[in-house]
Amino acid sequence: NSTVVISPATLDFTAVAKNKSDIVTVPTGYTASILYRCGDPLAAGVAAYANDGTDGNFAQRAGDNHDGMSFFGLAATGTSPDASNSTRGLLVLNHEYINPRYMHVTGQTIADKTTRTVEAEVVKEIEAHGVSVVEVTRAGNTGAWSYVQGSSLNRRVTPNTPVAFSGPVKGDPMLRTVYAKDGTTGRGTIANCANGAMPWGTYATCEENWAGYFRRATGDAAIRTAAGLAKQNVSFARYGIGEGAKGNHLWSTVTPADASSTVYRRWNASASASLPADGTGDFRNEPFTFGWVVEIDPYDPASTPRKRTALGRMAHEGVMAGRVIAGVKPAFYMGDDSRNEYIYKFVSATAWSAADAAPSNRLAAGDKYLDAGTLYAAKFNADGTGQWLPLIFGQNGLDANNALYPFADQADVLANARLAGDALGATPMDRPEWTAVNPVNGEMYCTLTNNSGRVGIASKSSERAIDPANPRAYVNTRNDGKVNSGNANGHVLRLREANDSTESLTFTWDVYAFGARAGADAANVNLSGLDDTNDFSSPDGLWFGLPTNAGGQASPLLFIETDDDAYTDVTNCMLLIGMPGRVGDGTTKSVTSSYGGTATTTARIGAAPGAKLKRFLVGPKECEITGITSTADGRSIFINIQHPGEEGGYDNITSHWPQTQATGTGTGRPRSATVVITKNDGGVVGL
Ligand code: FEO
Ligand code: CA
Ligand code: CA
Ligand code: CA
Repeated sequence: NSTVVISPATLDFTAVAKNKSDIVTVPTGYTASILYRCGDPLAAGVAAYANDGTDGNFAQRAGDNHDGMSFFGLAATGTSPDASNSTRGLLVLNHEYINPRYMHVTGQTIADKTTRTVEAEVVKEIEAHGVSVVEVTRAGNTGAWSYVQGSSLNRRVTPNTPVAFSGPVKGDPMLRTVYAKDGTTGRGTIANCANGAMPWGTYATCEENWAGYFRRATGDAAIRTAAGLAKQNVSFARYGIGEGAKGNHLWSTVTPADASSTVYRRWNASASASLPADGTGDFRNEPFTFGWVVEIDPYDPASTPRKRTALGRMAHEGVMAGRVIAGVKPAFYMGDDSRNEYIYKFVSATAWSAADAAPSNRLAAGDKYLDAGTLYAAKFNADGTGQWLPLIFGQNGLDANNALYPFADQADVLANARLAGDALGATPMDRPEWTAVNPVNGEMYCTLTNNSGRVGIASKSSERAIDPANPRAYVNTRNDGKVNSGNANGHVLRLREANDSTESLTFTWDVYAFGARAGADAANVNLSGLDDTNDFSSPDGLWFGLPTNAGGQASPLLFIETDDDAYTDVTNCMLLIGMPGRVGDGTTKSVTSSYGGTATTTARIGAAPGAKLKRFLVGPKECEITGITSTADGRSIFINIQHPGEEGGYDNITSHWPQTQATGTGTGRPRSATVVITKNDGGVVGL
């Protein structure tokens, strides 16, 4: 077949210039086409989206704020998987959150700034979250892509969809609610950020900023303490559910027409002193039902999504499988995206069996690899080595006598993974977003998007001093005077497991590239020597492809997507394509902080990417570029444009994309959308 050639294969496109246009810009010779927009009808018979705030029925339309996404090939006809088919498949994508200022005719109706009064608005908002499964087809090998309205495989998973818990926390008392009194089931998924395609053909969606959706009354902590649940207050504080939190969009305040309904009330986590302490009378435990990796079988629309509790509870960004090798236990790499949180990996208890690449029961394969194993948090040492620290109850102080939090058992450790990471001394990172794995050598990359809490010398609990893995603290001043400080532009770290094995407990690491403005201080900020063809800020989405060019040469390509605030005076967010090197191919250098105190540390800098990293795409106004997947042949790349025009609203429309994509102009409200990118000569994207 093909030969893997990292060099001399080169990137076959001219870098796209930074710009602030209200369209998706791609290199000459490529085409970007709109495929699946917020509100597009998914089920048969659903009306076209009016996009004026009057549309309802989001449980049968595309949701809002498209995010992580994977392509699953389908046979030419029917519903069977065929991973090799590059002209028909299922796109599965997350709808992370909503932009309510564009969702209703004149925004949200809120009485006295405290109470939602229009139930239909709240229904729409809840249903616009979750996941889409949508059939997409290409007209021949070089034709246009379209999605299939009414396909029997189309599905929306929303925050209301029944789900099942799986793994060590299933049935634990912490999951008991008035809805699920035995703690084995729950409702839906929310704040679905990044994702992963599991090696056995399923989609994993990750719950990130779920904590913000919960209301918690002032006085709740005292009620829990009186009920013997004081440690839940420690947990809530660590996960960001403080007393007095109102809950995003005030969902719990609406009065349902059906008085027995709990679909709004569940977003109020306040404990009632008069109800059972075990949580079976209210929704005090509802926050423990979120923060998980959720597995969905895309090929079976009737299947129940499974929350895989062995992978821990956090603000999950994504979950990327390492290389699978027969006889070796697979690993799954994950970021916890908040300031100063950790990078994790889960190693299955069961070694990989090649037959599971096409199992007869995909969710049973998920049970096999995701329900038993060990979760680890990463510790990065100054000398370029590191350790995976196991989150195992009873080891290394993870027990009832722990000073930070009294762990009761393994379920408690997993549900409070952040507290376990604290206790073990994992390394606080500059907001770990996506992980990606080089398919050729197994090296793991992780985006560290930025960190306003990174300083030279820490003086507050929200701050961490620079260290070799997070070595920069500086001030980024935009042309409009706005200032971002700390690690303002982020970096992409990479990690090589000992013996290149997913089972290893030690590794080496360095930084593939430091984000920076071209022209920024080369000594302490622009450490990777970025120039106008490849400078970027706030890397977020990250993914590897292994396409084969016309000459039969396959080369791993690294796709980097940005979600930025520090460089948007100059350019909208972007997608870059890079050809990776190898951990240890660069240099070490002493760098000095210029924010939050003067300190010096050693940066471990990968070889300057130079022409092996180029800007491939720039998005429309005020968007984030996120979600990325490809067909097996590498000829079609799918990405998501999230929240174009997010700074505006119905009365102040700041982007008209995707309407602008065809002619450059438009008048409509902006919509998040999936975009497919193809090469005009029918070739492989990027090579
Ligand atoms: Fe939803 Fe961390 O991005
Ligand atoms: Ca993200
Ligand atoms: Ca982000
Ligand atoms: Ca975003």
